[in-house]
Amino acid sequence: MEIKSAKFLISSTDVAKCPAPLKPEYAFIGRSNVGKSSLINMLVDRKDLAKTSGKPGKTQLINHFGINDTWYLVDLPGYGYAKVSKEKRDTFQAYISEYILERKNLLCLMVLIDSRLEPQKIDLEFMDWCGEKNVPFVMVFTKIDKLSKKKIADNIAHYKEEMGKHWDALPECFYTSAEKKLGREELLGFITATNKLFK
Ligand code: GTP
Ligand code: MG
Repeated sequence: MEIKSAKFLISSTDVAKCPAPLKPEYAFIGRSNVGKSSLINMLVDRKDLAKTSGKPGKTQLINHFGINDTWYLVDLPGYGYAKVSKEKRDTFQAYISEYILERKNLLCLMVLIDSRLEPQKIDLEFMDWCGEKNVPFVMVFTKIDKLSKKKIADNIAHYKEEMGKHWDALPECFYTSAEKKLGREELLGFITATNKLFK
């Protein structure tokens, strides 16, 4: 898919204030600092469309971007950021889960997983929750440029092994680096194919 336009539309906390749910939508979620905003910029080939930061907790709202005027990308706040107060974290969680469960045009969640780490409880619990709630998702491993190929392959194999304990079939997986622009064609290909299913 060629990206002809990518526009910031709105930041919201309330699912009712998001753009009308008339186009296919994909939301990026995962631990703080996993690389959600960076991956969005890489996909649409724009440096600063979604705001990134070396410090976790940068994205704090539901941010909608319109792509080619035909589909939406959504940048969500990260989960598991310890420095945000508990009260604020609970508020985040409430509006993010409401968004995930109520957003009619959300075709697929992109669950980002840091390929540098051993399986994280918070990621596994989040994906289990998606399973319980029948929320479609894929796993997107990030930052594969950061470690040796061997180490990355080991970490990914561990994640799949852990997932295999809870799931009969694994979700589709993607392997990406925003830094080295890896995995872009694969993700855009998935989005192109999934857009066709939107009614
Ligand atoms: P929050 O909005 O705080 O939840 O974070 P986020 O998940 O949106 O992460 P963000 O995209 O802001 O990136 C966090 C840090 O990781 C930044 O310093 C990025 O430059 C870095 N980063 C993101 N993706 C990659 C990647 O593929 N490779 C490398 N080497 N660094 C990356
Ligand atoms: Mg972000």
